Amino acid sequence: MGLIGYPDPHRYSTRPFPYIQLQSFMSASAPDDKSATPSPGEAAYRSGSGVDGASPARATSDSRKRVFHARGLTKVYHMGEVDVHALRGVDLDLFAGELVVLLGPSGSGKSTLLNILGGLDAASGGTVVYRGVDLSQATERELTEFRRRHVGFVFQFYNLIPSLTARENVAIVTEIAEAPMTPEEALAIVDLEDRMDHFPAQLSGGQQQRVSIARAIAKNPAVLLCDEPTGALDSTTGIVVLEALKRANETLGTTTAIITHNAVIGDMADRVISILDGVIAEVHVNETKRDPSELSW
Ligand SMILES: Nc1ncnc2c1ncn2[C@@H]1O[C@H](COP(=O)(O)OP(=O)(O)O)[C@@H](O)[C@H]1O
Ligand SMILES: [Mg+2]
Repeated sequence: MGLIGYPDPHRYSTRPFPYIQLQSFMSASAPDDKSATPSPGEAAYRSGSGVDGASPARATSDSRKRVFHARGLTKVYHMGEVDVHALRGVDLDLFAGELVVLLGPSGSGKSTLLNILGGLDAASGGTVVYRGVDLSQATERELTEFRRRHVGFVFQFYNLIPSLTARENVAIVTEIAEAPMTPEEALAIVDLEDRMDHFPAQLSGGQQQRVSIARAIAKNPAVLLCDEPTGALDSTTGIVVLEALKRANETLGTTTAIITHNAVIGDMADRVISILDGVIAEVHVNETKRDPSELSW
């Protein structure tokens, strides 16, 4: 503090790295929070001008709030003499609060797409705009900031720290997050209140995956990206994990994308986005969703 009761002005002028994009990541608040200063993209969204040149008419006719707006995404892996075209022109929008399933066979490009959306990888071509911020132009530092503040990841293998309890595994994230829930709250959402002090080795695979979901949602991310979260689990256990994802999506309003090669899981989604050979082959809107407990495979 400078003068009593007034913040020290130097606190603001000496802030490191005041990148415009970084600041817009920082100011991008939870998707349903209308009180904060809007980021450039949010302002564009509210004014109906769109961030991509979309006409106001289109923005008005589609009242859903767009979280991701990807156009013409390509990804080429160079393997010696061979070029692998993992994505060959993907156009994709994800909307606030929805639960989508990205469905496709092995090798179709699902993980590549999810990693680009989540800022873990960069596309070879095309653009990804996240709430008005162009991730395709972001620096490494900005992408790190984006992931840290806005994205929760769940992978097929749970990546828990064996020497920490469930509560401590979640606390690792809540200690560095800005407005986290408590580990206890996060673990309650995945129905693990009674296993908080167990170590990973004392938990089943499905329980470990639910701890990893609690860890991913504890920072209250706007987006939850899940790559084959049930891939290592039997169907009964997988369904319990899907229940936890559904509860997180509904309780927190987190935009949720679940990758799977299992078409049955598509029935729990708002939309099923089918990927085939690096392109989106079909987008199916479920008029009625099924509860994970109604699914079997
Ligand atoms: N790091 C990489 N280096 C080279 N090729 C890769 C790499 N990652 C993925 N691929 C290739 O890109 C294609 C899409 O892979 P991926 O996105 O992992 O598919 P999916 O998740 O649908 O199984 C596959 O042909 C795969 O072999
Ligand atoms: Mg994959």
